[in-house]
Amino acid sequence: MVCLGNICRSPLAEGIMKTKIAQAGLNWQVDSAGTGNWHTGELPDPRSIAVARKYGIDITDQRARQVKTLDLDEFDWILAMDNSNQRDLLFLSNGGKHKAQISTILSLAYPGNTAEVPDPYWDDQGFEKVFTLLSDACDQLIIKWEHIQG
Ligand code: 4NP
Repeated sequence: MVCLGNICRSPLAEGIMKTKIAQAGLNWQVDSAGTGNWHTGELPDPRSIAVARKYGIDITDQRARQVKTLDLDEFDWILAMDNSNQRDLLFLSNGGKHKAQISTILSLAYPGNTAEVPDPYWDDQGFEKVFTLLSDACDQLIIKWEHIQG
């Protein structure tokens, strides 16, 4: 799960997906990172912590880190929150080797969908919307996976 700062959106995506895979009995490895390094080592934004807590998810064990090329080798799905994050990830992937693994989370969850998870950093009211978007998208990705598995 990748966003810009790894303090607002992707920590929510990580916490939500970890909760849902535990409920679904899947043992996926889920992590999050930011394309930028300004917030390395920091806790998630207090507004993300609060909205997660409201829905019963604790994300206070997370600390921000910057995405690295090794992540692209380690994870099957590299899910960007918006198009700009996706472009930065493609840039990180030398020669586009990881192109097939990198998508925006909403376009993977809903094929043909070009919507982005909006950056809520400057919008206190945006966190609730981000939570709902991510929760629905994570449900969808698990359903998609279960269909692939038959
Ligand atoms: P995020 O939000 O990418 O969802 O973690 C942001 C966090 C910090 C900044 C921008 C977006 N920033 O400019 O510091």
